[in-house]
Amino acid sequence: MPSRTAPLTLVPLDPEAELPLHRQLYEGVREAILNGRLPPGGRIPSTRVLARELRLSRNTVALAFGQLHAEGYIEGLPRSGTFVSRTVPDALLRAARPTPRAGPPPRRAALSARGIALAGAGIRTDEPSTGLAKPFRPGVPALDAFPRRLWTRLTNRRWRSADLPLAYNDPAGFRPLREAIAAHVAAARGAHCTAEQVIIVSGSQQALDLAARVLLDPGDAVWLEDPGYLGARAALIGAGARIVPISLDREGLSVAHGEQASPEARMACVTPSHQYPTGVTMSAGRRLSLLQWAVRADAWILEDDYDSDFRYASRPLACLQGMDTDGRVVYIGTFSKTLFPALRLGYVVVPSHVTDSFRAARAVCDRHSPTVDQAVLADFIGEGHFGRHVRRMRSLYEERQEALVEAGRAMLDGLIEIGPAEAGLHLVGWLPHGVSDRRAAMALNAEGIETLALSPHRIVPADRDALLLGYAAYDRRAIRRGVEKMAAALRRL
Ligand SMILES: Cc1ncc(COP(=O)(O)O)c(C=O)c1O
Repeated sequence: MPSRTAPLTLVPLDPEAELPLHRQLYEGVREAILNGRLPPGGRIPSTRVLARELRLSRNTVALAFGQLHAEGYIEGLPRSGTFVSRTVPDALLRAARPTPRAGPPPRRAALSARGIALAGAGIRTDEPSTGLAKPFRPGVPALDAFPRRLWTRLTNRRWRSADLPLAYNDPAGFRPLREAIAAHVAAARGAHCTAEQVIIVSGSQQALDLAARVLLDPGDAVWLEDPGYLGARAALIGAGARIVPISLDREGLSVAHGEQASPEARMACVTPSHQYPTGVTMSAGRRLSLLQWAVRADAWILEDDYDSDFRYASRPLACLQGMDTDGRVVYIGTFSKTLFPALRLGYVVVPSHVTDSFRAARAVCDRHSPTVDQAVLADFIGEGHFGRHVRRMRSLYEERQEALVEAGRAMLDGLIEIGPAEAGLHLVGWLPHGVSDRRAAMALNAEGIETLALSPHRIVPADRDALLLGYAAYDRRAIRRGVEKMAAALRRL
């Protein structure tokens, strides 16, 4: 039984009224039960306490309660007290609800233009809250290989320590974590920053949203890779930006196309390490031209480096932030791929002259990310576990990618073309010309195979569709079985 004490002191009582006080109390409590203000199972204070609080005689309260008890609205439990009955008949509850008003329906308060735009911005909101990911849902790391015991030990150690910071914390994040991240991005990604420039966020998504709100005005033009990440597109739409889709070639985003389509754009939003979703790596030359354009146009570059830790073939190129000498790049990283997405921790590295605005925007949003998780993560990185885990996952993912490519070669010939990728956690499977990826994804879903269609990521339609196939979260057996099912379903299309 829940022991929430019901707020009976709110029952209106009038000593001057004709109706006796015990009857007024009876009716007030009955009404509160029927309209749901006193929920089933809620605890009722004792007659002694209530008599004192309502300044009534105990006898008056006992009379009212006796009647409520006799009619089944409240019940006494031995040695526990008195509670609102759990079995007040539904018919009574329904009868007590106000009847709908006659006439035209009341006018609803209108949404803002931003509210309407956000609702139609195309970000995914259908992720299930329970259940495991099935092959080949993209974007999920190997959750079965996450060192849960170690994480539990570090968490317990933090909870036991006397100096665990449980009060409000710096909106930019837990200082030791910011320091660990500044060191990590310098060593692993060639970034140049101090801990002051690092702001902890709840995943890349919050960084994209903050950057769009802090750096753009409604109507500003923004170059966006096409096809590109729906999370970035939605954040830009939410800020009222005018999105200019920019095509890709083998070197990544086409700066030439951008300069022709919108030379004065205020921002370019890119995934240079591993273009999402096509997987292209932006060449060194293209990185330079993009930076040079940003200087000429006085524009920002939003660099989303979401899965750069997983590179298999060659050494990663330095991030754009590390090449930027003009304070134009806002660099975004996340722990969703290296650790697990539900952690909701990421970071944004911002030029020094805008740190104050980002800190303020972060505080307006939700003050800061949960400090205990940040502290555990700081320990996880600082004690070397992060580096070890990423190295282990890199070779695991390489094997899993190979398994998918091999199984694809053996079973999917002519149905879908899956080539290897030098980075990331998913592959692009190109469908034959004329086969719709939405239809294919639906047919696969009916067989228990999860994929993402590429076409919703496009702004300008193209003549060939594809499916995004995640492999990192699934072992060899699951991959083989998934490919078998996929072959059968695609054959039936
Ligand atoms: C391009 C891109 N950026 C960022 C993310 C990660 O988002 P978050 O850090 O909010 O989990 C993803 C996840 O799939 C992604 O594909």
